[in-house]
Formats: sequence, structure tokens, C-alpha cells
Amino acid sequence: MEKSLTLDSQAPMETQHAEEGPGSGIFRAEPGDPLRMPEAQQQPISQAGRWCTWRHGWAALGALGLLAGASVGSWLLVLYLWPAASQPVPGTLQDEEMTWNCSEASSEEALLPSLPRTVSFRINAEDYLLEVQVRARPDWLLVCHEGWSSALGVQICQSLGHLRLVDHKAVNLSDIRLNSSREFAQLSPRLGGLPEEVWQPRDSCASGQIVSLKCSECGARPLASRIVGGQAAAPGRWPWQASVALGFRHTCGGSVLAPHWVVTAAHCMHSFRLSRLSSWRVHTGLVSHSSVRPHQGAVVERIIAHPLYSAQNHDYDVALLQLRTPLHFSDTVGAVCLPAKEKDFPRGSQCWVSGWGHTDPSHTHSSDTLQDTVVPLLSTQLCNSSCVYGGALTPRMLCAGYLDGRADACQGDSGGPLVCLDEGTWRLVGVVSWGRGCAEPNHPGVYGKVAEFLDWIQDTAQDCAYRMKAAVQKPVVTVKDMFVHGAFW
Ligand code: ARG
Repeated sequence: MEKSLTLDSQAPMETQHAEEGPGSGIFRAEPGDPLRMPEAQQQPISQAGRWCTWRHGWAALGALGLLAGASVGSWLLVLYLWPAASQPVPGTLQDEEMTWNCSEASSEEALLPSLPRTVSFRINAEDYLLEVQVRARPDWLLVCHEGWSSALGVQICQSLGHLRLVDHKAVNLSDIRLNSSREFAQLSPRLGGLPEEVWQPRDSCASGQIVSLKCSECGARPLASRIVGGQAAAPGRWPWQASVALGFRHTCGGSVLAPHWVVTAAHCMHSFRLSRLSSWRVHTGLVSHSSVRPHQGAVVERIIAHPLYSAQNHDYDVALLQLRTPLHFSDTVGAVCLPAKEKDFPRGSQCWVSGWGHTDPSHTHSSDTLQDTVVPLLSTQLCNSSCVYGGALTPRMLCAGYLDGRADACQGDSGGPLVCLDEGTWRLVGVVSWGRGCAEPNHPGVYGKVAEFLDWIQDTAQDCAYRMKAAVQKPVVTVKDMFVHGAFW
């Protein structure tokens, strides 16, 4: 089957990448101004997609013709041999499924509306006052301090896509100036009910205090506001972009989540599992690779691959790198936010992928500078259709790109960020994982779906931060040890 993509056939990509070494840049068929937003939503369904559909259509038609002939024949035979037979002709269902799969690839469904959330939170950027919105009411309520706990603060920060809570305190209502019409929400002592019942609207707070909450910073581009006339200083455009290097060699991309944490793809680590932990470096605030000097870069303290990572099909393709010393955040180095819980980006969302991977599909040309390109999210249904990846995507994967192959990530971009803008905040939606070739028609890029890794990322980061504080001198280990011993040491 020419379209069949065995999962094993994806694995050599890493090997190939390992052999080829560093590349530079995202492949984009038509390089454009990276700052310019894409011309009105480009259609992800391409000529190639239609051709695929037609081809399958003809094949289905032929098959149908054959089937019709065969069924008439067998019907006559059955009629002759077994007059009582009234079963449907075998094979019909399968053909229907095939046709459905292919027509799926050409249908443009309307964007799915996101489900209403019963309770939402936000934090006022100026004074860090926490606000809650309960479904039935359109207004945002300040949160009374009664019943507040730091555990709740951690939960809220995480649900908003931050890795951790930085600070929380009670603010006296008498110390701040508030609009007289402001309303409040108090935590009901009767916890365990529906989320919207937990937050009771009030005219005031009995304690006279409200909650101020500071979560770890993420998702902002300090330099973006300095764009003049559509030209940006490239440094600082993607402050969370990291280059994960083995020795001096760029091997994969990564994304900064917090001063001590970088997320990358598990397959990047798995490909080099025989290397020493001490050989890894993480470079941040970088645009041009030629500016990297020996002994620069953050030392990796620990590599934690997802315990369910599969080298066969790249399921759970995510790993965390814990850095020995914290990164200094600046205009050019900063964290990206994680997706907010229960808030999916709809397909068609225009997201960005960046990296130093190869810039042409023949894997010969690479640029020294960080490349980026806009890629729309594609539905898993479309991506898993027989014309595209024929069911190779697991629920831990998502697709982004074009069916006409105009732009894509490529070898060397793995582990790097796929980010989408959400009300002014950049969120890490995907981790570059795999694809058949680069920017090939009908083979868009496949990414690890970060929304599926949220609990693991948050639990691991919290756990390890605690362990790090209590850490004593560690022995020399190879990355392989970490894979063998449940990804931890
Ligand atoms: N596995 C590749 C790497 O290690 C990334 C491949 C992404 N391919 C694609 N067509 N989007 O760098």
C-alpha cells in the first residue's frame, strides 16, 4: 500500500537525524516575513488532498463496480443455491468506511466551538488580584480570602498554564481602591459540590480581605512590543526557544517552562541514550548558532522522559530536562505557558513552530539562524484519515501544517515548540515529534500534544524541585540509565 506508513519507518528519522547532525531552520516552501500574520486563513485542504480524494474516489468507484458485479453474481448464485439468504453482501461495510475516510480528508468542517467552562479564573496583571467567573454570571468576581489555601493557589496557577505558584497573600479591602459595584466570591465551606457551587457570589467579604495570587511568568514576548514597521529584532521573538545540544552539536529544540525546566521530545533523548548526562547543554536566548561558544549553555541535571514513551510509534514523545542552575530570564529568555486546562485550541488555529532544523526537504540546506513558520492546527480525524497518516496518530499527538506541503518542521526541529496565541498569552500546544519527510504533500507535521502531558509535567516538575533541594552528590549516569530505571534517578 503506497500510502501506508509503518510506524517503524518513522523511527529511522531520529537515526538519520543523529547521523546528519545539526540542521538549521524550519522548512518553508515560500519564505515570507516571519512577522507578517498569514494571509487570511490559508486552506489546509490542498490540491494534493483533493487528488488523494479523487484517486481514492476512483479506486472506490472501481471497487464498487467490481463489487456490484461480484454481488450480482453471488446474489444470483445464492438465489440459485440458497433462496432463503437475506444477508448483506460481505465487504460493503469496509468499502463504505474507506470512502468515508477519504472524503473525510476533503471535507472542511466548521470549527468546533469550545465547551463552556463552569468556572474560570484570571489574575489582574497590575495588582495580581485573583478573579473568578462563575458560568451563570458574566462578571468577574474578586475572591474572598476565607477558606483560601496555598494548595488551591497551586491548582489555579496550574489550571491557567503556569508551572507553579510564586506568591499568594491576603489584601485588605480597605487598602485598595475598588469600583463600588465590584462583587466578590467566597469559597463555600461545603466543598465537593459542582465547581460553580463552590464559589458563592457575595456583596462583600466577611474577612475584609481578598486574594492576590502570583503565578510563574510565562507566555510573554517583552521585545514584541518594540516591533517597528513589521520588522522585529529576531532575538526575543521566541524567548522560550532552547537548543538542546550534545557537546557542541545542536541535536534538538526545546522550550523553557521555568528557570530550571526545559521540555523537549523523548525521542531526542532516546536517540542518544548512550551518551553521558554531563555532555548535554541547553542554550537559550540564541538566534544564531555560530554565536555559541564552548562551555556556554546550561548544564543538565536530570533528564526525565515520559515513562510511557514508545520508541516504536513515538507515543508520549515528551521529556523534561532539569537544569542545574536556573536560567536568567530577560528580554530574550523566558518561559512559555502551558495550555490552560480544558481549553482546547480548535483546528484551524494559526500557530507557530520554530527551530534550527533543516530548511529544505532534501536535507542539504540549513541556515544558522532560528527559523519559524505559521502552521494551522489540523483535526486528528483528518490527519488519521487513510490519505494522510492512516491511523498512526495516538491521542497524545496532534497535526499541524498543510496538505499541500507548503511549510513544515524538519529534522533538527524535534523537541521544539509549537505555540499558539491565546488572548495575548503564548501557550505551548505541541512538541515537534515526527512526520513523513518534511513538507511533503499529505504529510503534515506531527507533534506531541502538550494538553495530554499537563499532569505529568506539573507533577514531575514539582516532585523534582523538591528532590533537588534535598539532593546530595549524584553519581555519573548515562541517559540510558534513566530510560532503564523508569526515567528517574
Ligand atoms: N524527528 C525529527 C527530528 O528529530 C522531526 C521531524 C519533524 N518532521 C516533520 N515533517 N514535521 O528533528
